[in-house]
Amino acid sequence: MKLIGPFKQIVTLADLPLRGKLSDEQLQVITDGGIVVNDGKIQKIGNFEALKSENQNVEIETIEGEQIVLPGFVDAHTHICFGGNRANDFAMRNAGKTYLEIAESGGGIWSSVQHTRNASEEELLRTLLERIAFLLSLGITTIEIKSGYGLDVENELKMLRIIKKAQDQTKAKLVPTCLSAHLKPRDFEGSNTEYLNYILTEILPKVKEEGLAQRVDIFIEKSAFQPEESKDFLLKTKDLGFDITVHADQFTPGSSRIAVEVGAKSADHLEATIDEDIEFLAQSDTVATALPGASLGLGEKFTPARKLLDAGAIVAIASDWNPGSAPMGNLITQASILATFEKLTTAEVLAGMTFRAAYALGLEDIGKLETGKKADFVTFKTDNFQNVLYNQGSLNAEHVYIGGTQIH
Ligand code: NIG
Ligand code: FE
Repeated sequence: MKLIGPFKQIVTLADLPLRGKLSDEQLQVITDGGIVVNDGKIQKIGNFEALKSENQNVEIETIEGEQIVLPGFVDAHTHICFGGNRANDFAMRNAGKTYLEIAESGGGIWSSVQHTRNASEEELLRTLLERIAFLLSLGITTIEIKSGYGLDVENELKMLRIIKKAQDQTKAKLVPTCLSAHLKPRDFEGSNTEYLNYILTEILPKVKEEGLAQRVDIFIEKSAFQPEESKDFLLKTKDLGFDITVHADQFTPGSSRIAVEVGAKSADHLEATIDEDIEFLAQSDTVATALPGASLGLGEKFTPARKLLDAGAIVAIASDWNPGSAPMGNLITQASILATFEKLTTAEVLAGMTFRAAYALGLEDIGKLETGKKADFVTFKTDNFQNVLYNQGSLNAEHVYIGGTQIH
């Protein structure tokens, strides 16, 4: 057992509701606080001096200077296991080339598939661990990571096995997701339905057998999989015992409705979601995940986070870090920018990067700082928590704690 502190402010996010809009007055801020950690979990949070006199013989980990504390951030949507680089896509897009022109000149998702297939396991693991280290340095302690650049049995399993290996080498909590339904690969002979069947019969049973992922994702879009075939696929993955998440309404509306209908944990993107479907999402337990990094990477509009929150949806914010549409990877910067464009309160942004994102991943033991939760938190050298978003990602995390142990 140990007592960590004193901290100028601890923003616990305790007592905040799972869904809907939040005002900053709802934030619980403990000043001159301390955190008692036992066995990796939070035993108690409160005034540092009071905790010190309550626990006379406890070991004290003293914090120097003024620091504030937030729960460890959760990035609930990434594609950070990949080979190669798509800088040329970025340049072509900005030079006015279309999605199709970029794909035809050797870019797009298919190019990342080829680079990922051709990369050695050592190279993929090394670069994945580098990206995880960067996210950890931002204070992101839980990271969802998708496959989806393998697109056949051998390479999808290769990706998921590498993510599993990475888990043995990092303190961050990794949540793998099987995104074999990212795109029908060009070398697959057969229809979309046949490819989805191939995933169901050839890939997912092995994923299950090896315990490589408990979640399945699909990209429903004109250029990828169509709504009806996707719905059928998702219901079957559900029968196999997987949780579901969907790349929905990125360019074309309609698929968030399917996500809700199949009981998906989350519907991510939603840049093109229509008002009627915002209501539908808001009445469901499917988390609406905004991905501002993709809007910034593509120069497209942002997810209507304000409308979703006002309607009562559970809104999370994730980076979508991937080599194509969202190469930045800095969730704090992206969430701060989303806040300015969508007029989100600090409480809404912090909730979206913590307990609401954790809910999308089915994790209940993280995301808030309260008794019984895992002691994952991040500190910043400042006297006011508002400075974190105000600085739009340029105020660096000072320390990162996972299970009560300082790892950064
Ligand atoms: O979430 N929308 C589809 N998939 C990714 C992009 C992946 C890529 O371009 O490599 C996304 O934005
Ligand atoms: Fe994505």
